[in-house]
Amino acid sequence: MAPIRLVHHAPGAPGLRFFGLGPNFIPSRALLKLQRLLDRHAFWARGRSFEQLRRLLSGSDAVVSVWRGKRLVGFGRATSDGFSRAVLWDIVVAGDLQGHGLGRRVLEELLHAPAVIGVERVYLMTTNSAGFYSQLGFQTAEPQQLMVLRR
Ligand SMILES: CC(C)(COP(=O)(O)OP(=O)(O)OC[C@H]1O[C@@H](n2cnc3c(N)ncnc32)[C@H](O)[C@@H]1OP(=O)(O)O)[C@@H](O)C(=O)NCCC(=O)NCCS
Repeated sequence: MAPIRLVHHAPGAPGLRFFGLGPNFIPSRALLKLQRLLDRHAFWARGRSFEQLRRLLSGSDAVVSVWRGKRLVGFGRATSDGFSRAVLWDIVVAGDLQGHGLGRRVLEELLHAPAVIGVERVYLMTTNSAGFYSQLGFQTAEPQQLMVLRR
C-alpha cells in the first residue's frame, strides 16, 4: 500500500495551480484531483471551476495536500495577515480515509505554517465538524457572531 505523503505547498501553491504538481514536484493533475476531492467530500465547495480553484489557491498563504501514491486524499488551506488573524478553509479528507488521523495532520501542518504559526487568532467556520476542531484547541467564539453578506 502506498505511503501517505503530506505536501506543504509554497504560498499561493503555484506548482499545483499552474502545473498540477503533486509530491516531489511531479505533474500529477493535482488541480483536477482537487476539484474531484472537493466535489465529493466538501459540500460547501462543490462545482468550483479550474479558474476558481486557481484563484483561491493564489490567495492562500498556506496550502497543504495529502497524497496516497498518485491519489489526492486530503487538503487544507489558510489565509493570513501574518501576525494578527488567520482563517482556515477547505479542510477535507477523502471519505474512505476519514478517521485515521489525516485531518489532524492537515490541521497541525496548517497551524505550523510560517504564515499562521505566530498569529494571535486563528478562525474557521464549520457546520458538522466542531468536535474535530475542539480536540485541537478551538473553541466556539461566543459572544462573537459569524456574519455573512451573501452574493
Ligand atoms: C472533518 C475532517 C476533515 C476530519 O478529518 P479526519 O481525518 O476524519 O479526522 P481525524 O481522523 O484526524 O480525527 C481526529 C480526531 O477528531 C475526531 N473527529 C473527526 N471528525 C469529527 C467530527 N466530525 N466530529 C467530532 N469529532 C471528530 C476523531 O474521532 C479523532 O478523535 P481521536 O483522536 O480521539 O480518535 C474529515 O472528516 C472530513 O473531511 N469531513 C468532511 C468535510 C468536512 O466536513 N470538513 C470540515 C470543514 S469545516
